[in-house]
Amino acid sequence: MPDKTSSQPDQPEPNQPNAKKPNAKKPNSKKLNASRRNFLGQALTAAGGAIAAPTLFKSAQAQEVAANPLPEGEVAVQLTVNGQTQSLTLEPRVTLLDALRERMGLTGSKKGCDHGQCGACTVLVDGQRVYSCLTLAVMQEDKAITTIEGLAQGETLHPMQAAFLQQDGFQCGYCTPGQICAAVALLDEVQRGCASAVTPDLTTSPATATLSEAEIRERLSGNLCRCSAYNGIVAAVQQAIGQTPPPAAVVLDQVIHA
Ligand code: FES
Ligand code: FES
Repeated sequence: MPDKTSSQPDQPEPNQPNAKKPNAKKPNSKKLNASRRNFLGQALTAAGGAIAAPTLFKSAQAQEVAANPLPEGEVAVQLTVNGQTQSLTLEPRVTLLDALRERMGLTGSKKGCDHGQCGACTVLVDGQRVYSCLTLAVMQEDKAITTIEGLAQGETLHPMQAAFLQQDGFQCGYCTPGQICAAVALLDEVQRGCASAVTPDLTTSPATATLSEAEIRERLSGNLCRCSAYNGIVAAVQQAIGQTPPPAAVVLDQVIHA
């Protein structure tokens, strides 16, 4: 008979939840320790890699900067202008206009007011007209910039350039690069169906064939001409979009009797 008063701890009955199976193997403590070490080793390796990667990257950057130090306060920027990509170092405050004119030698874009009021600095960025005096060069990475120098194909003028020549769309020529870039963008905007402040019917897309003189003047109102060559500019746009501009004498008569 088992002694119920014995000081030995009670053994659970075999059918109780905590009962040990008679043939259950004892966990191998050596194996457990080894696998724990493996796990910790792998985790630390991964964590170490995550910590080391940026450190190594920064170290590579530091070596590169040490080899080619940037002038103080400048940043590296790549600009793609007229299909060519150039690497520059600039102060972040440099405008696109200054980068084009002073750093890249593209002096076609003019600095009239430097305040976004005259349009002489107009260029195309990803096909849209932009006052280059009002945007920073460092903001234009990965964008396609087109200046007046990039419109012609070799010796062949862009149709808008040819029209400005044929219609006397300039006098001194200072505003002309900006006018032409704006006119090229205007054409694209009309073809995309963009309305202007004077579009008479907003339920149908404007068309180049029927674009009125008032529409052209409104759409170019962001580009001033100190020589007031506006009649020639409008006629040039009319020619470039396939319309027949009225003879200069007729336009002059209209201006006189307006
Ligand atoms: S120079 Fe840029 S708008 Fe006048
Ligand atoms: S042609 Fe002289 S400012 Fe326009």
